[in-house]
Amino acid sequence: TLHIIQLWTHTTYIYIVFQRDLPVYYKPWMDIARNVPELISSHSLRLRIHDMALLETHLLRTHRELRFAHLALSIMTMGYVWQEGERETVKVLPRSLSLPFCEVSQRLGLPPILIHADTVLANWKKRDPDGPFSMENLELLLTLPGGGSVRGFFLVTLLVELAAVPGLKSILDVINGVQYNDVAMVTKALDVVSQAIDSMKQAFKLMHEYVDPSIFYGIMRIYLSGWKDNPSMPEGLIYEGVQEKPMEFSGGSAAQSSILHCFDELLGVQHEGSNGAFLKRMRDYMPLSHKQFIKNISSRPSLRSFVLQQADERLTHTFEHCVARLVDFRNYHINIVTGYITIPASRAKQLRAYKQALEERGTGGSGIMTFLKTVRDETKDTSISQC
Ligand code: HEM
Ligand code: ALA
Repeated sequence: TLHIIQLWTHTTYIYIVFQRDLPVYYKPWMDIARNVPELISSHSLRLRIHDMALLETHLLRTHRELRFAHLALSIMTMGYVWQEGERETVKVLPRSLSLPFCEVSQRLGLPPILIHADTVLANWKKRDPDGPFSMENLELLLTLPGGGSVRGFFLVTLLVELAAVPGLKSILDVINGVQYNDVAMVTKALDVVSQAIDSMKQAFKLMHEYVDPSIFYGIMRIYLSGWKDNPSMPEGLIYEGVQEKPMEFSGGSAAQSSILHCFDELLGVQHEGSNGAFLKRMRDYMPLSHKQFIKNISSRPSLRSFVLQQADERLTHTFEHCVARLVDFRNYHINIVTGYITIPASRAKQLRAYKQALEERGTGGSGIMTFLKTVRDETKDTSISQC
């Protein structure tokens, strides 16, 4: 099934994708992709990929198949590049991987690297198909080193995404309400957005139960890292057979989730300077329908101006509350980052003579805390009582 929200008449927002497998022709990929953690621990993934057959991609037909192929190829690529850690990286991605990965990526309008929409949005199955979206009833399709913590990290993030869906749907009511000058409609819909942000935070709390900070920091993060703004791979990566010049791409990060981009555009949160540029660039790492939806929201008349203009007490209060929930979510996220990156990084520093690239950079390549705090403060600045 394709889980979609129908938006206006012409836009469909595919929010999560479910596809378990590929046609048998792709068995040479899947035999490797399903065993990436084992092949990394036996140091044989690179060898297996050198021997992998070069397959055609035209047998991939549906959006779901292409997304699953992108996931499988991205998992193999990250494993290939980071198999020996940040000190023994590679310069070239072999053609058996680079050619199909670039073809599939081009058809999807996505970059040829692991993205949030692979590991979170297209990487789940239900044990009992009629059962709920819950940690107990969900499994990953493909995984990376880190065992249960990888499962926890991707699936808890999926639950955060799903908690946002009522809020995404309400964005349409907010926009329509503004268009028709319907204060009651806007107020009611904004309330749903606030509630959705709250339930995202509730889901986020599961991270503590399912993800071990030392495994997250010490094992998992490197496999999500990219080859842009990364001192371990300063030149980028050559995709053999595609282009002779190396290419640079950011690693996977929930900064590529469309959810907060949508809420920011709705509320009129402005991200300036290099942080704003980073967030804008992350939109190129999203499925096209997500990117289109964000653009669509940003092209509508300003909600914030509408709220100021109406000067309706209840509407103003609801808008302020929504901004406050978003600030609160970002504060909670900063707390999580302290527990999962800052603290383990300072412990690791005591044990090591050299500096690790991942101490200072997010997997997406940002400067972590300065970035996250600026983005949080810019959210605060959207509040009306500020002006
Ligand atoms: C950005 C860490 C979970 C949403 C970031 C960044 C880091 C980070 C380091 C900076 C960008 C980069 O370079 O990658 C973490 C950690 C998590 C976690 C350690 C859990 C253990 C989540 C979840 C979400 C999320 C579940 C929800 C969808 C975001 C967003 C940004 C971001 C939206 C962009 C900054 C913003 O808009 O405030 N995260 N993240 N993160 N993360 Fe997370
Ligand atoms: N973006 C997250 C990190 O930097 C996964 O660790």
